Formats: sequence, structure tokens, C-alpha cells
Amino acid sequence: MKRKYIIANWKSYKTLNETREWFKLFYKNLPDQVELEDKEVIICPPYPLILPVFEIIMQYSTKERIMIKLGSQNISPFEEGPYTGEVSARLISEFCSYSIIGHSERRQIFSESDKMLAEKVELVKNYNINPIFCVQGVEAVIPLGVEIIAYEPVFAIGSGKPDTPEDADEVAKFFKEKYGLIHVLYGGSVTAENVSSFTIMENIDGVLVGGASRDPEHFIQILNKS
Ligand code: PGA
Repeated sequence: MKRKYIIANWKSYKTLNETREWFKLFYKNLPDQVELEDKEVIICPPYPLILPVFEIIMQYSTKERIMIKLGSQNISPFEEGPYTGEVSARLISEFCSYSIIGHSERRQIFSESDKMLAEKVELVKNYNINPIFCVQGVEAVIPLGVEIIAYEPVFAIGSGKPDTPEDADEVAKFFKEKYGLIHVLYGGSVTAENVSSFTIMENIDGVLVGGASRDPEHFIQILNKS
């Protein structure tokens, strides 16, 4: 059975109180029949919530059967130093096992270049953080050392109009053949209703979920159906 990555990208949403409420409902309502052994569940909250989420996860890890992992949504291209406002790989390395790098919102709104993204990949790898490298299509340049990519076509993000599972599988196959053994995820308007149509595809190893991950009940359904 293939191991599936189910990743929640909360973007710039959720206060501390909303986050506490999300986890309370998530752990309370997670039914026993949801298969978790075959899944790597990763939450990527906004930066200020990384520490509180880490503490919540630790607190529940002993009594719950799910060990959620933490990821950042972005990372500084610098290791440390006088970079006002930047959060570096070193600073999150005690809490995060993953980091989303190259999300299309970062590339478009914050003008992140391929060169900068390759530097970010190298930096997180130095701190044993696994990059989840987002690509928007087959023309993407994948930096050395990347093992997980998320195919997220721009038209599908937040639009309610996902790519077809067949298209996504073709793209995933392309990247696997070109770059060898890497995991390829799909992202863009994934919901509990369509998640299985993607995870069932031969070359797709999981999903990156934005909007639908913000509601704990919906996220549980995504885990259940994936
Ligand atoms: P969406 O976002 O699920 O809201 O389309 C996905 C993403 O941007 O990672």
C-alpha cells in the first residue's frame, strides 16, 4: 500500500483561539474507522501558530493514535542574520519536519525566483526539514534534493475547479520519470468529495489542501476518503 501525504495549508488564516478550537474538534471527532497507518498528516499553520500547534500535537500524541507532523508555509532564503521579518530554517527546525517551498502565491505575489527557491531548498535540507516543492506545470525546474513535489495548477487554486485526476496523474508520471523516485502530490480545490479521485491514481501520492483543511470536520472527511 502506498503511503499518502495529506497536507493542510492554512495560509494566512486562523488565530490562536481558532487553532485551539480546530484541534479540539479534530481530536474529538476523529472516528476510529479512519485509516491512518498509511498516511502522513502534515499541518502547515501560519508562523505564529507553529509553537502552539507543536505543543498541542505533543500533548495529544500520547493519547491519540495520530501523530500529526508540522510544516511551514514558506522559509527565509537566509540562514540567520540581520533580515528583519524573515523566519529561517534554523528557527523552525525544532518544530517542523516539512516546509512548503515555491507555492504559486509566493512566486506570483512575492516574486520568488527559481534561484531563490533552490537556495531555500538547500537551506531547509541543511536542517533536516523536508521541502514540499510546489510546481505549476511540467516546465518547472526542480532543485536538487527535492523528494516531494506538489503539482498545483494556478487555475485550480481556491477556484473550486480542480484539474482532472487524469491530467494530474500525467503530470505526476512526467515528474517521476524525469526526476526518479520522488513523491508527487496534487493540490488545487481538493475536497472530501473529490480527494479519492486523485489519491486513487497510480502516480499521485497525496494531496495539498488549502480551503477545505480549515474546517476540522471537512479535513477528517478528507482523511477518511483519501
Ligand atoms: P485550495 O488551495 O485547496 O484552497 O485550492 C490549495 C493550495 O493553495 O495549496
